[in-house]
Amino acid sequence: MSDKIKYTRKGDIAVLRIQNPPVNALSHAVREGLVAGMAQAEADAGVKAVLIVGEGRAFIAGADITEFGKTPLEPYLPDVCKCIEASPLIVVASMHGVSLGGGLEIALSAHYRIAQPSARVGLPEVHLGLIPGAGATQRLPRLVGVDASLDLITTGRQVKADEALQLGIVDKVVEGDPEEVGLAYAERLIADAAPRRAVSEMPAPAAIDWDAAYDGTLRKGRGQISPAQAVRAVQAASELPFDQGMLAERKMFMDLMETDQRQGMIHAFFSERAVGNLPELKGVEPRALQSIGIIGGGTMGAGIATAALLAGFNVVLIEMKLEAAEAARGRIAGNLSGALKRGKITQMKYDAMTTIALEVSINYDSLSSVDLVIEAVFEDMDVKKDVFGKLDAVCKPGAILASNTSYLDIDEIAASTSRPADVIGLHFFSPAHIMKLLEVVVADKTAPDVVATGFALGKALNKISVRAGVCDGFIGNRILATYRTAADHMVLDGASPYQIDKALVDFGFAMGPFAVGDLAGLDIGWATRKRKAATRHPAERVPTYPDKICEGGNFGQKTGKGFYVYEAGTRGGIPNPEVPVLIDAERAELGITPRDFTDAEITRRYMAAMVNEAAKLLGEGIAKRPLDIDMVLLFGYGFPRYWGGPMKWADLQGLPALLADIETYAKDDAWFWEPAPLLKQLVAEGRSFDDLNKDAAK
Ligand code: CAA
Repeated sequence: MSDKIKYTRKGDIAVLRIQNPPVNALSHAVREGLVAGMAQAEADAGVKAVLIVGEGRAFIAGADITEFGKTPLEPYLPDVCKCIEASPLIVVASMHGVSLGGGLEIALSAHYRIAQPSARVGLPEVHLGLIPGAGATQRLPRLVGVDASLDLITTGRQVKADEALQLGIVDKVVEGDPEEVGLAYAERLIADAAPRRAVSEMPAPAAIDWDAAYDGTLRKGRGQISPAQAVRAVQAASELPFDQGMLAERKMFMDLMETDQRQGMIHAFFSERAVGNLPELKGVEPRALQSIGIIGGGTMGAGIATAALLAGFNVVLIEMKLEAAEAARGRIAGNLSGALKRGKITQMKYDAMTTIALEVSINYDSLSSVDLVIEAVFEDMDVKKDVFGKLDAVCKPGAILASNTSYLDIDEIAASTSRPADVIGLHFFSPAHIMKLLEVVVADKTAPDVVATGFALGKALNKISVRAGVCDGFIGNRILATYRTAADHMVLDGASPYQIDKALVDFGFAMGPFAVGDLAGLDIGWATRKRKAATRHPAERVPTYPDKICEGGNFGQKTGKGFYVYEAGTRGGIPNPEVPVLIDAERAELGITPRDFTDAEITRRYMAAMVNEAAKLLGEGIAKRPLDIDMVLLFGYGFPRYWGGPMKWADLQGLPALLADIETYAKDDAWFWEPAPLLKQLVAEGRSFDDLNKDAAK
């Protein structure tokens, strides 16, 4: 038998122990071992029941995702499940840790299920662009009904043991060693002469309005297809005999396996895990972190303080005046009360976080013993240098000095201190206690253990941390500036901001660039345009109509008007009728005859600009791996997860065609559309961005 399954005999019970660390994924060897184990138990004289149990931290985390996309090897998972369920012996699954996807499907094929109180079960396949492929869409509705099944399968939501018991997914919840409680349960079942209980033999679930459920799920998925497909699979459970339902499920599963969305989502799954795993940090120990200083208590500083408090750090926040310090305390308390209301923290924790763990002060000396300080003050180099000078004077040796700047030169900031090796950029995204992305900006002289500490902090704060080098805007904002410029050019040439926003929402973005501008505040872009005006390349096309929106005192959502008009009490905005007038005037002034853009061309240009700039960043070494860029866009910029990120999207489209489009666009605007040398090189070599990820992992 495969060494992934250990067979032991305990009285009249055969125990199949799955041993496939770290999470007992159902690799080919595990599937083979389970089938062989069942056969051995059935041939083992006197065995009356089989107990399936997992070794280590989980029962089974599901199919082995690394095998997806390769030629599947027999036995396939549905056959393993069938073999378990069809056994004449009573089969019990004892579940601890997680039982996910194929792991839950194995458990559903057993005749009885017992779980630890801390166990979690779920069917997360939709997060991988799939539906369950080994019977869950057919068995679960027979066991718990259609509504609960659709909830679990279309959302991928995981439930704890108590809810699983209440729903009827598990039969018993007992604390103890999974093998011991499983054996005791199996012995009891044997003693009671309990029947073999095959879920597939239970009555088919009642019908619902399937089309309405399908349409609703499709809408909610914002372009993602697998959740809606799951509705059709559950429909098959209701309408078809079990075996035919299984075939229908298998066909849908295999079809989804062939989709770009499946590839994109699996790329996101592995990249999310690889992104914090930097080859350069192997063996580098982070510095100790207990207390964190924060300079500036505005929205950003208060958000960072909230995140740090929630992660258990002590925080010292510095403001310039007493009133500002108290206002910052109020902001933090407001953020934390949100966490209290949502049940994320207890009242006791809330009280401790707003009193003992938090100090607000107007005196830099209060920072003398903190381990790391994050500066979140006004974006002005002189102001920053002044702050870092003060920090240099009061902070203890070895303390890390971090800037939350979103574009300023960290090398220059570092050079203004006597300890540039301790200086780093930690670029949070607002609201910092909610947004998942953290750019860890490594300056020329930043010490490796300071970088490692940046990543350790990100992990403690439950962020996705991405390494970036120093440049204007680092990874995210530099790419944003470029794709936003592509959108601005399309507006000058004839598209409306509203068509562009809609095309990109249809592509899967959470919001279009003009709605994002309104949300962030149009004054930010206005200030950036002014800042860059002096050094602007003469060939650069910069529209002036957005300045006119701002000159009228309209900065977007915060003033109630920008590209859109926001009525109090309504969600989202309606197009601002003044904007097309301003655009028309500018086109007339520039002598541009507006032309039509299709949604497809809008998306293509926007994405091409994004990928081209990203390839330049990679070529310059600002981003080390394509997957780092993918994670920045996914977690900071509302990029649709099912495309995996812009670099994965580009690979899926094919780089030669994308480069050809960029070269075509360059005929009209050679300066903006200059192809990235790395993109040209990859096309010439017939390689992809994913090949670069693989090179980096070697
Ligand atoms: N297949 C292969 N590798 C897996 C895996 C899986 N199903 N699940 C986790 N891993 C790997 C991770 O990549 C990671 O590897 P590295 O250490 O090399 O980075 C390692 O196991 C540990 O995982 P995490 O770092 O994520 O550990 P965690 O404790 O934070 O989380 C987990 C554990 C909850 C199981 C989480 O990994 C998870 O959610 N895994 C995915 C589960 C899933 O989606 N299962 C459904 C698979 S699809 C399916 O089963 C379809 C079908 O019907 C055929």
